[in-house]
Amino acid sequence: MQANDTCPEILDRPVFGRLLFAQCWEDPRMDFEALDVGPGKTLLSVTSGGCNTLSLATLQPTRIIAVDLNPVQSWLLNLKIAGARTLEHRAYLEFLGAHDSRNRWETYQTVRQALPADARRYWDTQRRAIERGVLRAGRYERYLTAFRRLLRAIQGRKTVARLFESASLEQQHRFYEERWDTLPWRLFFRVFFCRSVLGMGGLDPAFFTYVSGIRSFGEHFRARARHALVELPIRDNYFIAQICFGRYLDDTAVPPYLAAERYDALRATLDRIEVVTGELGDVLRALPDSSVDAFNYSNVFEWVPGDTFEAMLRATHRVATPGARLCYRNLLVLRRHPPNLDRLFTPHRALAARLLDADRSFVYRNFEVASVRKNGTAGA
Ligand SMILES: C[S@@+](CC[C@H](N)C(=O)[O-])C[C@H]1O[C@@H](n2cnc3c(N)ncnc32)[C@H](O)[C@@H]1O
Repeated sequence: MQANDTCPEILDRPVFGRLLFAQCWEDPRMDFEALDVGPGKTLLSVTSGGCNTLSLATLQPTRIIAVDLNPVQSWLLNLKIAGARTLEHRAYLEFLGAHDSRNRWETYQTVRQALPADARRYWDTQRRAIERGVLRAGRYERYLTAFRRLLRAIQGRKTVARLFESASLEQQHRFYEERWDTLPWRLFFRVFFCRSVLGMGGLDPAFFTYVSGIRSFGEHFRARARHALVELPIRDNYFIAQICFGRYLDDTAVPPYLAAERYDALRATLDRIEVVTGELGDVLRALPDSSVDAFNYSNVFEWVPGDTFEAMLRATHRVATPGARLCYRNLLVLRRHPPNLDRLFTPHRALAARLLDADRSFVYRNFEVASVRKNGTAGA
């Protein structure tokens, strides 16, 4: 390991031996627009719940390197890949948990044949998670299940259902002000998403080591939730549907990799996905110069100190082709593009701000998009 470009102690936390995210809680529309992914391109993408990597795969890049230091996240992606390989579209949605099914364990007996040995060994022991649908199996999704139960108690089932009935932004706004934004909602939100409860429940206290400048997590998230509930059309917001109902409301409001019209493209690209379990700094170090065209970094940088973040950006520059694109989010810790790296990257601030404003996954504080400057290129 070299100094500074590999993540420190946080990554030894026990949470990394379990499934943290069964889905990606990041809006793939942002990655689609930020990264110029397509045939002929090589993409490096943080795996997490696998959804956004698979969604980007539907754009049919030539090579996809999916990276996660948590082996269980890799095994989840292996399972989603094996499912797509072996099942027709409807059966795939049923198997993952997007539709009801009574025979997921039976289906798994077919899917498992397409799994690598380590992933098969893991999923063979996870009958309960498979039977319930793996989309609900992560620690973060279980936290949101608890949120949903309390939300129904506080707002009432009918009010929660009515949230999705607004036909215009104006109606959404009125509904939010008149029915949704009550005192119990504010108090509940504040407590449920405060630092300590979130740390104990959905995430891990160590993830907040570098947080500064946020007085109340609950208030921060509530302001972001208001933005999504009032200013963005709710109909296709599958993130809010998942939070409120624990399922997608219909087959049109789903992540791109689950959309019927993209399923053939997904299946045609599965062989190009390399699932790599490793720490990002180590993975970058093993890649040749100028070999990757797009980098989807989720929000990994806020879990590391500032100097590690900068070292990882330098490593990214070495590995990137001229004009390559990268994007990453900040949930709570601001990790903006460092101005001292302007020689290496051209940030796309207006694009990033526009995409953040339309972010249906809404919790993020900041989004960064940049192009790589190399060999005299200005970074497209
Ligand atoms: C940063 S987390 C955030 C999850 C995300 N916001 C979402 O909604 O899916 C995404 C993934 O990054 C992985 N991860 C974090 N730091 C990493 C690193 N330095 N190298 C490789 N993977 C990392 C975690 O294991 C996790 O599965």
